[in-house]
Amino acid sequence: MMYKTLNNGVEMPMLGYGVYQTPPEDTERCVTEALQLGYRLIDTAQAYGNEEGVGAAVAKSGIPRDEVFITSKVWVSNMCCERAKASLDETLRALGTDYVDLMLLHQMMGDYTGAWRALEEAYRAGKVRAIGVSNCYPERLVDLCCLAEVPPAVNQVETHPFRPQRKAHDVMVDLGVAHEAWAPFAEGARGIFQNSVLAAVGEKYGKTPAQVVLRSLLQRDVIVIPKSAHRDRMEQNLDVFDFELTDEDMAQVAGLEDPSFPRIFDHFDVATVKWLLGDLVHQQQLGGAPLY
Ligand SMILES: NC(=O)c1ccc[n+]([C@@H]2O[C@H](COP(=O)([O-])OP(=O)(O)OC[C@H]3O[C@@H](n4cnc5c(N)ncnc54)[C@H](OP(=O)(O)O)[C@@H]3O)[C@@H](O)[C@H]2O)c1
Repeated sequence: MMYKTLNNGVEMPMLGYGVYQTPPEDTERCVTEALQLGYRLIDTAQAYGNEEGVGAAVAKSGIPRDEVFITSKVWVSNMCCERAKASLDETLRALGTDYVDLMLLHQMMGDYTGAWRALEEAYRAGKVRAIGVSNCYPERLVDLCCLAEVPPAVNQVETHPFRPQRKAHDVMVDLGVAHEAWAPFAEGARGIFQNSVLAAVGEKYGKTPAQVVLRSLLQRDVIVIPKSAHRDRMEQNLDVFDFELTDEDMAQVAGLEDPSFPRIFDHFDVATVKWLLGDLVHQQQLGGAPLY
């Protein structure tokens, strides 16, 4: 395993297991298998509805809690100080743990600076070991880093061979924020698992296109959290530490970048933003705590 030392000194595994779109009833089984195979970073979120399955698998695994790194994320409907605080307590309850290793703001929407204050408070109280953001574009990241008392340790953004996020990566490096890739396989788009360039690079090492993708991201100092419901693929995705891509291989993978690749969640599209904000608006209509 490779580890990333975050800007507060916390060590984070650089390859983990994501559970987005893993049905709640299948999550305990999937995470149990992932832990058995050696994964020690699990990425969940309030919005995935499967924090309880993650917590149950970790608790039953027999692996000491401090050897598993758990990430969760505050959803848009909780994006203000008071709601974020309450939602973090609910996350801890669902996970059955008294701390989360990394808590992220899932989307930079609503009163995310208020929610950030809640994460800072939780960090100081020892409820979270590190705090960070997701889907945070360079200009907002700079803004948050300037405002924050505790700077974000991680930024989790869509990153894969078709959208490698090179400029955003440089900003993150400059700000001391670790880059974490979501959808490292672009969720399987464009036949990535049969891609001829990736296959040719992998053939030299007896590795699959999926393994070449993960290895290339790790060599760019990007943390990866591939998802698979299948044990053989989970195993394959973890088996990337016994080979190294050359500069030439890395250039081949870099050549797959395509600015026309559609964003999986387009945060620059008004309809998508409205849709993501739907939960927050709904909470407002219910007359809950003020959101600003
Ligand atoms: N912060 C955010 O906004 C955000 C957004 C999306 C995702 N995420 C996080 O990032 C994680 C990963 O992203 P993702 O789940 O969207 O997509 P992904 O990891 O890019 O792709 C998952 C897909 O690839 C397939 N797959 C996995 N390994 C494979 C292999 N070795 N060979 C062939 N197929 C393989 C899986 O199928 P099977 O399951 O059938 O094997 C699944 O359909 C998520 O689980 C979540 O934790 C975060």
